[in-house]
Amino acid sequence: MKKKITVLPGDGIGPEVIQGALQVLDAIANKYNHEFEYTYAKIGGIAIDECDTPLPQETIDACKASDGVLLGAVGGPKWDTLPGHMRPEKGLLGIRKELDLFANLRPVTAHDSLADSSTLKREVIDGVDLMIVRELTSGLYFGEPRERREEGDDLVVVDTLAYKRSEIERIMKQGFELARVRNKKLTSVDKANVLESSRVWREVAIEVGKEYPDVELDHMLVDNAAMQLIRNPKQFDVMVTENMFGDILSDEASMLTGSLGMLPSASIGSGGPGLYEPIHGSAPDIAGQNKANPLATIASVAMMLKYSFGMAEEANAIDQAISEVLEAGFRTGDIANPGEEVLSTTEMTAKVIELIKGEV
Ligand code: NAI
Ligand code: MG
Repeated sequence: MKKKITVLPGDGIGPEVIQGALQVLDAIANKYNHEFEYTYAKIGGIAIDECDTPLPQETIDACKASDGVLLGAVGGPKWDTLPGHMRPEKGLLGIRKELDLFANLRPVTAHDSLADSSTLKREVIDGVDLMIVRELTSGLYFGEPRERREEGDDLVVVDTLAYKRSEIERIMKQGFELARVRNKKLTSVDKANVLESSRVWREVAIEVGKEYPDVELDHMLVDNAAMQLIRNPKQFDVMVTENMFGDILSDEASMLTGSLGMLPSASIGSGGPGLYEPIHGSAPDIAGQNKANPLATIASVAMMLKYSFGMAEEANAIDQAISEVLEAGFRTGDIANPGEEVLSTTEMTAKVIELIKGEV
């Protein structure tokens, strides 16, 4: 099969982890006789530097013309003092919106072999396998008005959490569809004791749930969900939640797997190209040092194969290689315990590729 992929390396460790992920894709292309064509485009800080905007039109066009988009990460201290509309993150929010990617899927799978890298007890995380479905193009990160204004000698700042019922409906359906092919349990996470938007969120969950009688639905307040994720994460299968709630809960959930450097994500929408990216940021503290863990991005590529290209076997081959690399004890710095040998980004990538090629 031939597929066109737009590659947005971005900033910091973005280009480093992307390079690894593309080498893995090449290995897959070779083994399974596919052709992946890469078009590079700019987003985030590098786009601000070179094109004066975090999301050039050219980048949007390239993404829309492709079968899938692979993104590294954006941002860094260099751009931190820029005004809101010129921030690298604006590029990321913009491309999600442009491609109408309303569902962000963040699978959290605890690898048995990494249990000792987590700060949590083995018995709590052993066997964790959950999926956070984060609403991605509305909610608090997009609501209007957003403003800052002087009021007397004070400053008033406003962000707005707004949803259309239809937006809640479509993300809920996505969640139920996933739960149906997973472990048939959906937890709708909200703050219905305080927020009007959450009360409707809950109503819609119940209503959409009627179309999925095979899926067990429960509701949880977001603050409790944050606690339950650490107390007993195995109670969860699919969690569906508002944009910012999902952002925060998924960083928290990453610690169940040992590191932020392990978590992939897929953003999908109403049929256009999906966007695949690790959940971590540009990690300026380790950028340019060949130290970043490439596995989150490599696992994101596996999600692209599965969700956008219908290549389940190829996706499995990548996931399997990641598991085996970890079982064999290979570690980047973020998942190494004291005294363990630490591999670089490129060395870790090479280990995954060896396994895919069947060279070990
Ligand atoms: P971060 O995710 O970049 O890093 C947090 C910590 O995790 C750092 O200590 C970092 O070294 C470590 N880390 C992250 N990914 C890693 C990997 N693959 N391997 C090993 N260690 C890894 O979050 P932070 O530091 O809050 O933000 C840094 C910059 O990234 C900021 O400019 C922020 O706005 C941006 N950011 C971008 C995101 C994106 O592009 N999707 C998401 C989150 C933050
Ligand atoms: Mg985040």
